Amino acid sequence: MKSYKIAVIPGDGTGPEVIREGIKVLDAACQKYGVKLEYIHYDFGGARYLKTGELLPASALEELRKFDAIFLGAIGHPDVKPGILEKAILLTIRFELDQYINLRPVKLYPNVYTPIKDKGPQEIDFVIIRENTGSIYTGIGGTVAKGTPDEVTTQVMLYTRKMVERCERYAYQYTQKRNKRNTLTLAHKTNVLTECGDLWMRVHEEVGKEYPNIKHDYANVDAVTMWMIKNPEWFDVIVTENMFGDIITDLGAMIQGGMGIAAGGNINPEGVSMFEPIGGSAPKYTGKNMINPLAAICSGGMMMETLGEERVARAIDMAVHTALESGKIVSLAAGQMGMGTAEVGDLVASLV
Ligand code: IPM
Ligand code: MN
Repeated sequence: MKSYKIAVIPGDGTGPEVIREGIKVLDAACQKYGVKLEYIHYDFGGARYLKTGELLPASALEELRKFDAIFLGAIGHPDVKPGILEKAILLTIRFELDQYINLRPVKLYPNVYTPIKDKGPQEIDFVIIRENTGSIYTGIGGTVAKGTPDEVTTQVMLYTRKMVERCERYAYQYTQKRNKRNTLTLAHKTNVLTECGDLWMRVHEEVGKEYPNIKHDYANVDAVTMWMIKNPEWFDVIVTENMFGDIITDLGAMIQGGMGIAAGGNINPEGVSMFEPIGGSAPKYTGKNMINPLAAICSGGMMMETLGEERVARAIDMAVHTALESGKIVSLAAGQMGMGTAEVGDLVASLV
């Protein structure tokens, strides 16, 4: 029996509730295909920080390196200043484990409400590949003369050729494997960011030569936000740098039905990857059995796909599809699903 060691970080707010349902569905699907998952739980997050002052100890990071994958709920606590937990836990894991790809599918399942008029599952089905370790997120820069009228701040958009190249190569391979419209669109802002944009553009063209069966094109990221709303069917796979990717993936989440269904993977194709629903900790719904666990369930499916367990991944995706198609889940919004968090998990688990 194939078995995998999974580090589970339920985290803050509704994180533990959605992770519980994610595991319920993972176990049901894995059992069916003779795969075993062994979970070790870690309590990193706001509560532990407030109690002990500890964020992510160096020893924990070393432990995380030994797992096959990490399954994360949510990081963010109302009593902790924004940025502290995100930087010390989420971004540290992404950077230290070199999870250089952030994979965010934008897929509208049946019966799911999209705010875009006249578009359905046929039209809304693309993937955003966000570079995950560079750009403004590297924290290079600083502030001088803080608090004075002469204050100056900088935050540098850093990229090396190697960083861009490995991301582009992953994106081409992903587009090829997906085999849908075989088109990879680079989203950037080359008309203004003439340094970083030029590097991305050159690498996009050069790596593209190695994939003659994949069409590649380019769009300015501001125009991409318009087309995601107006003509989402134009897109197959979008590759973009870290900051733009952060922004357009939230837009993507909204057009696929909201944070309740938006899954994400922080992937190191040669190392340990981490999977998370992208919706955050939603503190006001904590402990109420009201939050939608589908994003966590779909993230679990993405984890199995990345581990190479494609049958398990497909079973989870089909079960989510069938659950939504049944119409039993009446809305994806927290508290309006027509059933509770655990019941959504039960329903999906029963369908794998
Ligand atoms: C995301 C989040 C994070 C990011 C925050 C919480 C640091 O918005 O995963 O998209 O900016 O990457
Ligand atoms: Mn974000």
